[in-house]
Amino acid sequence: MTGSERAEIDSPGPHPATNVRRMRLEKVTPKNYAAALALSVRPDQADLVAPVVKSLAEAYVFPDLAWPRLIYDGDRLVGFVMAFLDYAWGDDPDDIRYGLWRLNIAADAQGNGYGRFAVEAVSEEVRARGGTRLHVTWEPRAGGPEEFYLKLGFHPTGEQSGGQTVGVLDL
Ligand SMILES: CC(C)(COP(=O)(O)OP(=O)(O)OC[C@H]1O[C@@H](n2cnc3c(N)ncnc32)[C@H](O)[C@@H]1OP(=O)(O)O)[C@@H](O)C(=O)NCCC(=O)NCCS
Repeated sequence: MTGSERAEIDSPGPHPATNVRRMRLEKVTPKNYAAALALSVRPDQADLVAPVVKSLAEAYVFPDLAWPRLIYDGDRLVGFVMAFLDYAWGDDPDDIRYGLWRLNIAADAQGNGYGRFAVEAVSEEVRARGGTRLHVTWEPRAGGPEEFYLKLGFHPTGEQSGGQTVGVLDL
């Protein structure tokens, strides 16, 4: 079991029965993949992140690079996150990066701390593998995730990648 698979946090939440939520990451399996493919962000956010089906195709093609996980709150599937691990960035063979490749929180689950949890869980996984920085790229448009990433401590590196802002978090 890796670091993030162990990562669970209890926090106050809206569930009436216990007022406790259990967030965790799970691997994609034959049992849960169909539900994973049905996850979707809001229609006005569709340009901000690829659909889960594309990410899973990339994870199949780049198995050594991609680290895909589903985000659960108890039994409820609330999102998808995919990290990239040990990626040789650009032309510099010594510029090895870890980062967030995809982060999709379901439209009706946003604003409940799941995105923050996923970033923290990926950070824990990267730290366990010896990484000291977590990269991400985001679409620099109004309504995009820039404020989310800045709030979590990312700062722009000054680079652009495919028209997107490159940000980094020191772990
Ligand atoms: C961006 C996204 C991942 C955030 O996930 P989330 O679960 O809704 O965010 P959280 O509830 O964990 O928010 C954490 C903090 O960021 C803030 N935040 C989240 N989204 C924000 C936004 N768009 N603008 C400003 N602040 C935002 C929250 O208010 C919260 O602040 P707090 O801790 O002070 O209360 C999610 O909205 C999403 O999937 N968006 C569409 C796809 C996308 O843009 N993915 C990223 C691709 S790079």
